[in-house]
Amino acid sequence: MQTFALFCVATLTAQKYSPSEENLAARVSFQEDKFGMFVHWGVYSLLGDGEWVMHNQNIAIDEYEKLPTFFNPIDFDPKEWVALVKEAGMNYITITSRHHDGFSLFDSKVTEYDIVDATPYGKDVLKELADECRKQGVKLFFYYSLLDWNRDDYFPRGRTGNGIPGRGEGEWENYIVFMKAQLKELLTNYGDIGGIWFDGHWDQKEWDGKAFGALKVDWHYDEIYKMIHDLQPQALIGNNHHIGVIDGEDFQMFEKDLPGKNTTGWGTAADQIGSVPLEVCETINGSWGFNLQDRKHKSNKELIHYLIKAAGYGSNMLLNVGPMPNGKIQPEHQASLRAMGAWLKQNGTTIYETHKGPIAPNDDFVSTQKGKTVYLHLLNPELNVIHIDKVPVKIKSISDLKSKKNLSFRNDKFGLVIDVSNLSKDPIDTVIQIELK
Ligand code: GLC
Repeated sequence: MQTFALFCVATLTAQKYSPSEENLAARVSFQEDKFGMFVHWGVYSLLGDGEWVMHNQNIAIDEYEKLPTFFNPIDFDPKEWVALVKEAGMNYITITSRHHDGFSLFDSKVTEYDIVDATPYGKDVLKELADECRKQGVKLFFYYSLLDWNRDDYFPRGRTGNGIPGRGEGEWENYIVFMKAQLKELLTNYGDIGGIWFDGHWDQKEWDGKAFGALKVDWHYDEIYKMIHDLQPQALIGNNHHIGVIDGEDFQMFEKDLPGKNTTGWGTAADQIGSVPLEVCETINGSWGFNLQDRKHKSNKELIHYLIKAAGYGSNMLLNVGPMPNGKIQPEHQASLRAMGAWLKQNGTTIYETHKGPIAPNDDFVSTQKGKTVYLHLLNPELNVIHIDKVPVKIKSISDLKSKKNLSFRNDKFGLVIDVSNLSKDPIDTVIQIELK
């Protein structure tokens, strides 16, 4: 009898996650959305030095806890945010519900360290945003930090935040109970959400200064993921752990790197890319949280190229803004977002609802595809001839999307050659439309 019971438990735990129909439909719709806004906002925004300021400056717990007492974003207007998102051609928002500093931007009953209980503002900004998103037809995802520099029960501690004075020592299992309770709140108090975007997994990995080693704790992903899917089957789970997809996850994200690239040092290896929707996240300047002196604002061209390249990998782009402590988005960033929206108004058909095309992306050109139409984005206006080695497709015609002018081409054993010498090229992107047989 006992053996039988043990056998059952073993079989049960070995069971693989199989996504519900709602979840599969949500994955398709998410991947078609292609463009979303990442929002890093919290009490750290007050200090204008990014969301890692507590760790970077080793701010003591009792000092940092003064921040909420004067966090009062009176100019926060969810209508304005969501309208900007739409103007930018974005289809969803992913906002930090709680970042590594442990402060919750929503009304949580399992802690007082949240926007409703601890700030003079006293309102649940996530609730206001969720209501507005629903009104304007924009999906809402919640970023949720697994790592926490404030709570005693985040113990054993991870690799970060160890210079912060005043940290205590509690019970890991209590921390898991706390996270589950908060996630339940996020999954029950804000209507249907797009999903949960986890971050901080890597904090609990051994690190020898060069490479990550074993994980020190059990994150209880099996229970956490199951709870989320039980509460909202359509909600997509992603985890910024920089490794391959873990059972129970519905999409995979790539931080500051295109899928399979590793310019950051923590990029997910190409052989770890899963067969789930992909999303690349990137900052609009050099920071996630509001950074007063960050002048590395990316140009419209850089931003648009990143969006095109992401799409060329079949991936979404989640572009970040760090709103100011008053709740406004920096004017320079608003302008960039509007410029992207204007570009998408003209060229959206070549991005939305596409998947990656038959020609692998590089710095000169990128391909996306919808049905029998391939959109070849020419990013380098200097090129007069496009030459691509072996493209495994049969081509009916090639034309310039804008002027509809036919382009002469050859596609044989020497590869695909398209003559673009007579084309008036756009400095950002000239789209060449390839119709397949
Ligand atoms: C990193 C950072 C974090 C940021 C995230 C966004 O994981 O730790 O601050 O929220 O990237 O991708």
